[in-house]
Amino acid sequence: MNIVVVGTGYVGLVTGVALAHIGHRVTCVDVDKEKVDCLRQGISPIYEPGIEPFMKENMDAGRLFFTTDGASAFREADVIYVAVGTPENEDGFADLTYLKQAVKDIAAAVTKDVIVVTKSTVPIGTNHEMKRMFAELAPHVRIEVVSNPEFLREGSAIHDTFHGDRIVIGADDERAASVVADIHRPFGIPIFHTDIRSAEMIKYASNAFLATKISFINEIANICEKVGADIEQVAAGMGMDARIGSSFLRAGIGYGGSCFPKDTKALAKIAANIDHHFELLKAVIEVNNKQQRKLIEKAKERFGRLAGKRVALLGLSFKPNTDDMREAASLVVARELLAEQATVVAYDPIAMGKAAHVLPKEVIYADRVEQALERADAAMILTEWDEFRQLDLSVYVKQMKTPIIFDGRNCYALDDVKTYAIEYYSIGRKSVK
Ligand code: UDX
Repeated sequence: MNIVVVGTGYVGLVTGVALAHIGHRVTCVDVDKEKVDCLRQGISPIYEPGIEPFMKENMDAGRLFFTTDGASAFREADVIYVAVGTPENEDGFADLTYLKQAVKDIAAAVTKDVIVVTKSTVPIGTNHEMKRMFAELAPHVRIEVVSNPEFLREGSAIHDTFHGDRIVIGADDERAASVVADIHRPFGIPIFHTDIRSAEMIKYASNAFLATKISFINEIANICEKVGADIEQVAAGMGMDARIGSSFLRAGIGYGGSCFPKDTKALAKIAANIDHHFELLKAVIEVNNKQQRKLIEKAKERFGRLAGKRVALLGLSFKPNTDDMREAASLVVARELLAEQATVVAYDPIAMGKAAHVLPKEVIYADRVEQALERADAAMILTEWDEFRQLDLSVYVKQMKTPIIFDGRNCYALDDVKTYAIEYYSIGRKSVK
C-alpha cells in the first residue's frame, strides 16, 4: 500500500511512523518546510518518548518519507490519511480550515481513485461534507471517505498505537472499510466497524466520558477534604468495581491538553446547535475550570495574601512525558499568582522551552528543581513528573524558606510527608501540618 499522511502533528507523525513500521510505504506531508527538514534528519518536532529511534529505523528501512510536495505524494497514493489540526475557534466550535484546505489540495492533485481516511477529530457530518466536496472538486475520480478516529495519548503515543483497545472504522462503502481494516490488521487490535457519523461521535463521546470521570472524581475529592475521607482510598475502592474501572479516577487539578478541553467544548456546541442543552457536559467543563484554580484557593486560605510570596511551580506541561503546554493548569496558576503579585519561579524537566513562549514574561525559570525551591515560601506541584515523585522530601526542607507544599497531583504518600517538617496540602486528602 502506498500511504500518504497529511499533517505531522502528534496524530499524523505517530500514525505515519506506526503504519511504516508494520510494513507500508508511508509519505508524511506537511506545509511547514522547516518541520519537514527536521523530520528528514530524524528530528521529531514533538517530544514523545521513543519516537526518534522509531522514525530513524523506518526511514533507514526505506518505508518512511517526509515531504512538502503534497501534490506529487497525493498522485501516487492509494490511501490518504488526514491528520491536520482542528483547533477550537472563538465560539468553541472545531475550526475546519486546515481540513478543508487538505480536501482541496487532495482533490486538485489526484488522478486515480483513492480512499481518504480522516484521523482528525471532526464534528459529526464533516466526513460527509468532505465527500460532497470531493465529488464536486474531483468528479473525474472516485474518492471514498472513511472516519478512523485516533485515541492515542500524548507521552505514550507509540505504546497506545500498538496496544490500543480498539480501532474504529466508520465507512459507508464496504470496500473502503475493508481496505482500511486490512491496513490496520497487523496491529492485532480489535477492529470496530460502524457508519461514518457514529465513528465521528465515538471520538467525542469517548473524550467527553473520560473528562466526566475526571471531573466527577475531582468533585468527590473536594467533598472528601471536607468530610475527612481520603480520595486515594475512595478511588481505589470504587475502581475495584469492574463496572466503574480504576482508570481516569486520579484526582488532581483537572484535565488539560490538546483534546479534552477542546473536544468537550466542541461537543457541547454541537449539541447546542441542535437545541440540545448538554447540562452534564457543561458542568464537567465548569468543574474543570474551577479545579485548575484549586491550589491558588488553598494557598490564599493558608497565607491570606500572596503578594510578595515566592512560589516555586513544579511541572508546567499539561501532564508528564510531554512538553505540550496546551490548556495546561500552569497557564492559569502562573497568571493568577502574578495577578496576586507573587514571584513565580518555574521548573519543568522538559517543557520550559515551550512554556517560555506561552507563560507570562514575569515568570522566572530555574535550571533544576533545587534551584526553583531555593528560598521559596511555597511550592506548587502541577505535573506529576517522576523527577518530583522521586524527589527526596528533605530537599524541600533544605531549600525552601518555609517548606509548604501544595500538591495538585498527589505525588507523595501522607505517611512519608509526616516524617518531615513539611506543611502539605494535596487534593482530596487530609492536610499535614
Ligand atoms: C486524551 C485521551 O486519553 C486520548 O484517548 C485522546 O486521543 C486525546 O486525549 P491526552 O490528552 O494525551 O489523551 O492525555 P490523557 O492521559 O488522557 O490525560 C488528559 C488530561 O487528563 C491530563 O491533563 C491529565 O493530567 C488528566 N487526568 C487524566 C487526570 O486528571 N486524571 C486522570 O485520572 C487521568
